[in-house]
Amino acid sequence: MFRKLAIAAVAALGLTSGSAFAAGGEGHVEDYAFSFEGPFGTYDQNQLQRGLQVFTEVCAGCHGLKFVPIRDLEEGLGYTEDQVRAFAAENFEVYDEELEDFRPAVPTDHFPENNGVGAPDLSLMAKARAGFHGPYGSGLNQLFKGMGGPEYIASLLTGYTGEDKVEAGVTLYENTAFPGGWISMAPPLYGDDVEYANEEVEATIEQEAQDVAAFLMWTAEPKMMARKQAGFVGVLFLTVLSVLLYLVNKKIWAPIKGRKKD
Ligand code: HEC
Repeated sequence: MFRKLAIAAVAALGLTSGSAFAAGGEGHVEDYAFSFEGPFGTYDQNQLQRGLQVFTEVCAGCHGLKFVPIRDLEEGLGYTEDQVRAFAAENFEVYDEELEDFRPAVPTDHFPENNGVGAPDLSLMAKARAGFHGPYGSGLNQLFKGMGGPEYIASLLTGYTGEDKVEAGVTLYENTAFPGGWISMAPPLYGDDVEYANEEVEATIEQEAQDVAAFLMWTAEPKMMARKQAGFVGVLFLTVLSVLLYLVNKKIWAPIKGRKKD
């Protein structure tokens, strides 16, 4: 009985071989090691900056980021106010209702929305796709391996097999990460799609995919570091409190417990 229970518990926790329990129809998600994983992980600002570049030069053609204020790049990615202003004006136009016309974006604007070709907004995508995999879609891989939305996005961008087919007038591309295996997004990355400022970082498909995935994690959760820090302080506080309570408890009961002994 106990053995059976133990096996069931282990299986439920997904500690046995993942493939045997993989839910049907799910794609393959690679377990990348991102800098922000784990309780003390932090964003790598250089990587976020590269990811912003990939987003702006490649993905923004189809996808929007409508929940992200452009000025957040200052605190999150470590740019100066002037750099953010120049970035906004150079890269994005927004519709101004007062002018009734388009004008260059300013830092207080959000990134424009863009879904003209049926491309979903990417602001929160890294969280929306965070916990769906693991045994029976339980999301346990996220808990145990730190796998989540960014892993999925990076796997999606590198998961094209090169096959495509036309179905009901829509071209679908085979992709090993996309649930169902066929996605209507044409492969957006081919390698060398952008030129990184840091020449030591090569713009391979893998590199670009991980950079833009990290950037999209930041757009979905810009305050991750603050959240982890608050959690850590909370745990520390509760630990100290527990020790104090234990000692106080001992002290209060000491006379009575002491009497019992003799
Ligand atoms: C040519 C237009 C186009 C470009 C460029 C493009 N996408 Fe897409 N993307 C789409 C469309 C269309 C969909 C919807 C696909 C579907 O649901 O079949 C999509 C879907 C997605 C999804 C959601 C997949 C899911 O699980 O539903 C992600 C994530 C994504 N794109 C990321 C990116 C990233 C990152 C880039 C830049 C490297 C990018 N896309 C560039 C058109 C594009």
